[in-house]
Formats: sequence, C-alpha cells, structure tokens
Amino acid sequence: MTRAALYDGLGGPDVLYVGTVADVEPGPGEVAVRVRAAGLNPIDAKLRTGFVRSDAPFPRRVGSDLAGTVEAVGDGAVYWDGTPVAVGDEVFGRGQGAVAERAIASADALAKRVDAVPAEVAGGLWIAGLTAVSCLATVPVGEGDTVLVGGASGAVGLIAAQLAAEAGARVIGTASARNHGFLRSIGVEPVAYGEGLAARVRELGTVTAVMDCHGREALDAGIELGVPVDRMVAIAAYAAIDELGVLNVERAARTPANLERLGDRIARGSLVLPVVNTYPLDEVGAAFTDLESAHAPGKIVITP
Ligand SMILES: NC(=O)c1ccc[n+]([C@@H]2O[C@H](COP(=O)([O-])OP(=O)(O)OC[C@H]3O[C@@H](n4cnc5c(N)ncnc54)[C@H](OP(=O)(O)O)[C@@H]3O)[C@@H](O)[C@H]2O)c1
Repeated sequence: MTRAALYDGLGGPDVLYVGTVADVEPGPGEVAVRVRAAGLNPIDAKLRTGFVRSDAPFPRRVGSDLAGTVEAVGDGAVYWDGTPVAVGDEVFGRGQGAVAERAIASADALAKRVDAVPAEVAGGLWIAGLTAVSCLATVPVGEGDTVLVGGASGAVGLIAAQLAAEAGARVIGTASARNHGFLRSIGVEPVAYGEGLAARVRELGTVTAVMDCHGREALDAGIELGVPVDRMVAIAAYAAIDELGVLNVERAARTPANLERLGDRIARGSLVLPVVNTYPLDEVGAAFTDLESAHAPGKIVITP
C-alpha cells in the first residue's frame, strides 16, 4: 500500500487528508517512482476547489510534479532519448498523483536527475519550468528586446525571466515590494504591479514583448504601451487571449528534453529555482495553505 494525499470533495486545503491506496504496477511505457519530492502548483489547488473542472472520481489524488527513484519498470519503458529506464534511476518530471510515497509516471515524461540538482528543486520543475520554456517558445526574445514579465516572483515567472535574460533580453518584472530584492538578484528590474503599471513601466524603457505569468494586468499594460499582440503571451489570463488577441502559451515545448536542459542549467548554476518550504506528506494541508497565501519566490515542496 502507498500513503497518498487525497480528497473526497471540493474545497479548501482542509479537505485534504493522507490515506492509503493500493500499489499499482507500471503498465507498458510506465515506471513506478518512490517519490522524494513533489512540488505543488496552483493548478493542484484550482482542481481541488473546482475552479478548474475535473471528471476524475473521488477520492482524488493530488499533484503532478515529482522527483524520485525508479522502483519498478513497465514493459518497454524508455526515456525520451530511447535509453531504457532502470530500477534505481534518479528521475524527475511528471507523475500521476505525485503527492504520495509512490506514483506512476510515463517514462517519456521523465528526465534523469544528477546529484548537482537537489530532488527538492527537480521535483518542482515540470510544470513551472516547462511553462516558462513554453513562454519563450511562444514569444522568442533576445538581444534588443525589453520583456515585461508579469508575476516575475512566481515559480513560472522567475524561470521565464531568467531564461529571457540568458537569451540577451532586458527584463522588467512585476512583483510585490518584498520580492524586489530577489528580482534584482536574478538580473530582473522590479516594478510594482497594480494600478498605473503601464506608466511605471514606460519610465523604465520601451517594452517589446510581454509574458504574463500571473493574470492579465501585464497584458493590459502591454496594450497600453503599444506592444504588438503577437509579442504577448498569457499563461493564466484565459479571457485576455480572446479579448485582446494575445497568444496562448504553446504546449509543444513541454518536452522531457527541455526538462533535462533546465536541470543542466540548475546544475551549472545558470538558473535558480528557490525552494521556499518543504513539508512532510502528513502536512499537505498546511503546505497548500502556504502555496495559496502570499509566499516567497519559489516552490513549496512535499518530501514524503
Ligand atoms: N497555462 C499553463 O499551462 C500554466 C502553467 C503553470 C502555471 N499556470 C498559472 O500561472 C499562475 C502562476 O503560477 P506559479 O506556479 O508561478 O504560481 P506561484 O509560484 O504561486 O506565484 C504566483 C505569483 O503571483 C504573483 N502575484 C500575485 N498577485 C499578482 C498581481 N496582481 N500581479 C502580478 N503578480 C501577482 C505573486 O507575486 P508576489 O508574491 O510578489 O506578490 C506570486 O509570486 C497560476 O495562476 C497558475 O495556475 C498556468
């Protein structure tokens, strides 16, 4: 049996509990992972509250980001580059119901983890990291660009901001004042979000691209600043995509090859993804309360 975070009905973090579920053996192309770390994401909370609809039966499991050790290998399970998966491999990526002691993952949604990338960091990279990569795939930026990243202190935003800076762009990022020092530490010029954003950004320079990693405010500012709509990407402001004609983040870049490249950057020290807090599995409710309140830049992680 496996201990896993579960919920029987929609609601706040208080509906979460830890229960036992039967161990499932990996099917063809799958592996079973002993979870070392599972990063939490806003989508986990949106599914739990019903803000995002799901038809999955109750009790529902939680989470999709993980890092851990391969415990069992299904028939024909190979990594994205064709190499076979072996029991004992350290991996990270996407798993089903990752907030648990053990989870099933499709081998082609995993990358190999090296020691230089701590499990707590690797276990928070799939959604945030690949969404950030996807922002840059949707709106490529480089030297000569000035990018406005909305929500640059969030997990997606702080990775997108660093990737844009690495590509040679100047990066302006919105965050609350307490996180401005952090943004400066990763090479981002901070600006407060809220009313008057466009005017504050105009004083800093001419924006050529917008990545909105929180809501639509940076997109509205981009419109006011005359940024072409095909140079603006949204990850969370779904209504703005239709209303403003900005681009929805494309999904093609969510590949394990790109995940492995993110891991390489972290190993080299050219990308940082801070771990804000770690919680044992039994404190999953407190961990989500932390995620859903104002928190420091980076990931909240369960370490079963
Ligand atoms: N479409 C997709 O595929 C996709 C993928 C991943 C995430 N998302 C969505 O993207 C959003 C961010 O995810 P995340 O993992 O980065 O969340 P996160 O780590 O919890 O970060 C959220 C950030 O939002 C910032 N924020 C709060 N109010 C803001 C405002 N009015 N303007 C600008 N920023 C504000 C906060 O900044 P301060 O702390 O500085 O106030 C915080 O750092 C979530 O809505 C998530 O569901 C979508």
